[in-house]
Formats: sequence, C-alpha cells, structure tokens
Amino acid sequence: METAACKSVGVKIVSTGRYLPEKILTNEELSKIVETSDEWITTRTGIKERRIAAKGALSSDLGAEAAKIALTRAGLSGADIDMLICATITPDKIFPSTACYIQQKIGAAEVPAFDVSAACSGFIYALGVASGFIRSGAAKRVLIVGAEVLSKFTDWHDRSTCVLFGDGAGAMVLEAAEGGTDSLLSLFIGADGQYAELLHIPAGGASAPATEETVKNRLHFMKMSGKEVFKVAVTKMAEAFEKALAKTNLKPSDINLLIPHQANMRIIDAVSRRLGFPMEKTYVNVHKYGNISAATTIVALDEALEEGRLNKGDTAALVAFGGGFTWGAAIIRV
Ligand code: COA
Repeated sequence: METAACKSVGVKIVSTGRYLPEKILTNEELSKIVETSDEWITTRTGIKERRIAAKGALSSDLGAEAAKIALTRAGLSGADIDMLICATITPDKIFPSTACYIQQKIGAAEVPAFDVSAACSGFIYALGVASGFIRSGAAKRVLIVGAEVLSKFTDWHDRSTCVLFGDGAGAMVLEAAEGGTDSLLSLFIGADGQYAELLHIPAGGASAPATEETVKNRLHFMKMSGKEVFKVAVTKMAEAFEKALAKTNLKPSDINLLIPHQANMRIIDAVSRRLGFPMEKTYVNVHKYGNISAATTIVALDEALEEGRLNKGDTAALVAFGGGFTWGAAIIRV
C-alpha cells in the first residue's frame, strides 16, 4: 500500500515522546543467565544492553508514560485527542486492546481506541492508519503509540533470542493541517504471510490454545529463524525505503537522517550501505535498547530530535521490518 501527500488535508507531526524502563540488563548480566558472552552478542548484533520493564509493568503502562510526554510537549492532555492507536505485539491481554487501557490511563475521552498488530513495522502501519483517518477528515488529532514489553514473551532459556529484545515505548501526536503543511511526505507498507512461521509466538492463539503441553514446550515465547529473517529484512527494508522515496520528488541525498529498525547492527549496516547512506546519516541506538519491536522507530525518532540529529524542516526516513513478515517506510518532515 502506498500513500502520498494529499493536497487538501495535511498530516502534521505535532510532538513525540518516549519512555524506557529504568532497569538495564547488560550483556555481562545476560551471560550469567544463558551460555553467551558480551563478545558474541556485540559482534553478532551490536547490542550492549537492553531495558527491562518492572514486574507488573505492562505495554499500556509504558505506552501511557510515552503518550503523556508527547501530549505535554504539544501542550495537550488526553482529553484533547480524538483517536488512539497502539502498535504492539505484547498486548496487556489478547483483548481488550492495549489502546483501551492507554485511553483509560491518560484520561482520553470516549474516542476510538484500537491496536495495530504488525510486529516491528507496527509503528509505520499505525502512522499509515492514522494519516488515512486524518486525510479523510474522520479524525483531527490522533495519538499513536508503539509500546512493548518483549521481556515478558522472551524465553530466558533460549540464547538465540533472549539476547536480542528489550522493552520500551514511544508516542506521536498527529494533527490535521490545512494550507500545505505536511509532515508525512509518503508512506509505503507491505507484508508476506508465507514467512509467518519464521518469527512468531507459536501458542496462545486459536491455532494452539494454552495446554500443559504448550507451556511445558515453552511455546508461549517468541521463536525465530534468525538467518532467514536477516536476509529478507535487508532486502525488504531497502525496497520499502525506495518505494516510499519514489512517491516524493526527493533523492536519497535529500534525506537528512535514515532511521532504520534497530534489530541488529549488521542489518542496519547492510541496509544503509545498500541505500548509500553514510553512518553519519544513519541513526543507531540498538546498542542501548536492542530490538523493541513496534516502539523502535518512534523511540529512535524522539531521541534523534532531542539530540539535534534532526532539526526543524529536516527530512527523515523511518524504515522497519518485522514478523509477518511486514515492512514499511515513511518519509517525514519534522
Ligand atoms: N551466544 C552465543 N552463541 C550463540 C548465541 C548466543 N546468544 N545465539 C546463538 N549462538 C550460537 C548458535 O547456537 C550457533 O552455534 P552452532 O554453530 O554451534 O550451531 C552459532 O552461535 C551461530 O548461530 P547463528 O544463528 O548462525 O548466528 P548468526 O550469525 O545468524 O546470528 C542472529 C544470529 C540471531 C544474531 C542473527 O541471525 C540475526 O540477527 N537475525 C535477525 C534477527 C532479527 O533481527 N530479528 C528481528 C527482526 S524484526
């Protein structure tokens, strides 16, 4: 699916925010839990540490904190939004949606609230959904949140996955803008379900409801075929960027900052090299947080803005890839 800036109603990014749990789990600490080492994790992934949510903290708690920061920066409160979308693969419950819990926690009115499930591409998907509502005139101000507590769905006995993921949340306030302002220059999203089993949680859904057996076999945790994911991720992230960019009048050199999904430093390197971006124009925080799925691109964008890596009027490309497989890219002007 492709969308490009529409002349009548623009989509303005009003503010962003992020919330990362305080607790840090370092590679050294991890190597006391499973047979691994800082050296292996660093060279294979670039990750040095990740954040872990407190025992009772849920995606809605992290998401609500990030949302409150974004709303405060916009001079707004929860009562001022007219739609709430949460991208997550670690929902508080199968239903109701995590967005409904966030709605309650930030004091939003009785506005539509729902989740988007597109794994690590979830935030780009949510951006596409929100912009569709805004451009059609159905919503004026939408809060989108990417929130994950992946640590609660991680098999801490499986060294091939537990070193990769972390917890965190980010949020963005979007508004309808008349008169030519448009922060979302283009967006492209895609998916291919033939790869569904390569990155998934096998049990807990209708295909494998919880039984003693599924629990014993640890099927309620994330499973991944790392090598296959790696290959498709590089190709599809590069393709998503090219397709989103083609919908604009811009050249790659017009993009001030590439913000790729932060799953693995080797994937980031390969994508930025393929697209001809030097590392100075590529945002990286994978060493601090690991992969925080749907929260990744919005947390990185918020940090890049705070650090002055992006300034007013600059153009950035958010590019993501995740389970499904899903992928997407958004070209934004901040
Ligand atoms: N510490 C030490 N050794 C580990 C390990 C760990 N944490 N995890 C796996 N290994 C071992 C394996 O058991 C294997 O040993 P063997 O050769 O004796 O069987 C060896 O290291 C190599 O594993 P392999 O899976 O081939 O490594 P890799 O180079 O493919 O790197 C990933 C593994 C997971 C880091 C890499 O495939 C990857 O990042 N994939 C993409 C993951 C991703 O981004 N997913 C999310 C997308 S949104």
